[in-house]
Formats: sequence, structure tokens, C-alpha cells
Amino acid sequence: MKVYQPQDPDIISAWRWTDRGLYLLDQRLLPWKETYIRCRTWQEVRRAIKDMVVRGAPAIGITAAIGLVLGAERLRARTRRAFLSGLKRVAQGLSKARPTAVNLFWALERMIKRAEAEGDAGPQELVEILRQEALTIWEEDLSANRRMGRLGAELLPKEGTVLTHCNAGALATGGYGTALGVIRAAVEAGKKLSVLADETRPYLQGARLTAWELRKAGVPVAIIPDAAAGFLMARGLVQAVIVGADRIAANGDTANKIGTYALAVLAKENGIPFYVAAPSSTFDLHCPSGQNIPIEERAPEEVLSCGGRRVAPCGVSAVNPAFDVTPAKFVTAIITEKGLIYPPYSENIPKVIGSENQT
Ligand code: MRU
Repeated sequence: MKVYQPQDPDIISAWRWTDRGLYLLDQRLLPWKETYIRCRTWQEVRRAIKDMVVRGAPAIGITAAIGLVLGAERLRARTRRAFLSGLKRVAQGLSKARPTAVNLFWALERMIKRAEAEGDAGPQELVEILRQEALTIWEEDLSANRRMGRLGAELLPKEGTVLTHCNAGALATGGYGTALGVIRAAVEAGKKLSVLADETRPYLQGARLTAWELRKAGVPVAIIPDAAAGFLMARGLVQAVIVGADRIAANGDTANKIGTYALAVLAKENGIPFYVAAPSSTFDLHCPSGQNIPIEERAPEEVLSCGGRRVAPCGVSAVNPAFDVTPAKFVTAIITEKGLIYPPYSENIPKVIGSENQT
């Protein structure tokens, strides 16, 4: 059996990828069960992203890239031209999985460009090239996280409590994590930090996934109800806030898990630094501001029930935006693998991110 994975993988991974298919750690069942779901077709991969078996912006991008490889393996194209047009159809299908995380579109476009750039390669060779490219995207994301960890760790206090929202850890990325990677790196460097993890209703990424990961990584963590953040900040119990991102506009406006905006406003009110950690693949310089970022609306049932049990009265509906947009003015700094970015973001983002990363 052939196994495709980075040279130096993290202790926690969302995938096992072999020549038998893509095995996704079912994040809906964590922390109770560590079960893998096998995907053999790109349609199964799209469904897994949609249903949040795998989630988190960079992880969605990597999964889509691997999904494209699974689709490419099954194309029965005899010519390079037929192969490329089949590949684009698969990419189009995968791009429908979720709308907000730009990493999904970024990864698919990068894969298509890679295939197109190989002028002489026939279908068989292109499958191999695409497999290598998907693996490279995974590896690059993992090393970007380690680099963000080193750069961002400097910003965190020598001791104290850091608050985070949702899950921006190894499960949401190629490994190590963005926001959680920064916290892990700071703790590995000897800082005495503990973490407050917002439970993150309705999907409970904080209570289930962030707490599970940090425990595995040996970082002290306590879960708080989302609504407790402001009170704890006002009492002086939070020294910094750090979150990930799903899409960062050219002016620094940041889409992330619903509830992030409220946290940023509360941090400002209480004089607490608010950091965003994200790889360059999460920037969308084609979006001038957060107004242009498409925000996913998920099923009302996710809000109306908890732990698989309905909690709201019958006949009542719910509004369930999965993300919100934090205006750039609330963000103290953005941590990327290419460097730390400070305001004014409209000026500094293009300088640090550059256009070569944008598809
Ligand atoms: O709906 P999700 O779980 O995919 O949302 C995830 C987040 O909002 C994360 O904070 C973001 O994708 C960054 S992950 C490094």
C-alpha cells in the first residue's frame, strides 16, 4: 500500500491518504470517537466537506485538492485535452462544497494551473503530477503553520491566558494549526500560557475539537460558554485573543467563525490585543473589503438542536450564519508565514502577501 503524507507530519492529522482512497477523520464525532470515513470519489469528498466531516479553511483546501486527484484518477480521458476539460468539471463540482473559505477555490485553481502548465504531459502523467501537487499543498500548509507559530509566539505574553474561538488547530489545517499553532509554539518556547476555548455554538468546534487537540498537545485549556468572553475580559482574565480566518479581504477585514466579530469588539473595549493567524492562501486580494465575502448560511436544525437532540419548541425557526466579518480596525496584527502584518492593512497586506499567491 502506498501512503501519501508529509515527510514530517504533525501528531494530529485530519487525513490518511493512501492508494486505497482518502480517509477523513470524522470531526463530527470527536472527541467521543476517532473514526475515519473512506472517500473514493470526488463526490464523496464534496459531501464530506459540505457535511463538515472535515472543516477549517486550510483543511478544506487540502481536502479539495486531494478530491481533485481522486476525480482525476477516474477520468477515462484518452487525450490531454479531454483530461483537462474533465478535470475542470470536477473542480467546478468540488468548488460548490462550501462558499466562505477561500482556500477551497485557491487550492483548486492552483491544481488546475499546475496541470495546464505541463504542456506535454498525457493523462497518466498528469494524475501523478496532480497527486504530487496536492501533497505539496499539504506540506506547504504544515510548514507555513510552523513558521506562523515561531513568528506569532513573540506576540503572546510570557505568562497568562489566551482566548480562542472555534478550532484553528491541526484538525483545521495541514497540521500544527494557525491560531493554535501560535499558542503551541509559545508554550514550546517556555511561555506559561493557558487557553480559554469558546465552546463555539452551534457546532461546538471549541468545546469538542480545540479542547481535544490542546489536551493532546499538553496545553492547559478550559472551555467557556461563548457568552462568557466579555465578562472574563472585563475581569482581567484574558491577556490576548487569537483566532484563525476563512478569508481575509485586501483591506484586512476578516471572515471567521460566527462570534469572532463580537470577540474583537470586546477585546478593543477591554484593551486586549486581538490577533488573526492565517496563511497567505487565506487572503483574497480580489475582495476589496469584507462586504464582498460570501457568508455561508447553514441549516436551522444545527441551532435548533444540541448533541443531536432538539432543544427548541416545534414550529420555531432559526437563523444560522456560519461566519461573520471582523472589520480590520479591530485587528491588532495578522500573523502569516510571510511575516507579521500591522495596520494600515490596505497598504501593508499587498506588500507582505504579494500577488504571486493570488490565483
Ligand atoms: O465552519 P468551520 O468549522 O469550517 O469554521 C472554521 C473556522 O472558522 C476557523 O476559525 C477557520 O477556518 C480557520 S482554521 C485554521
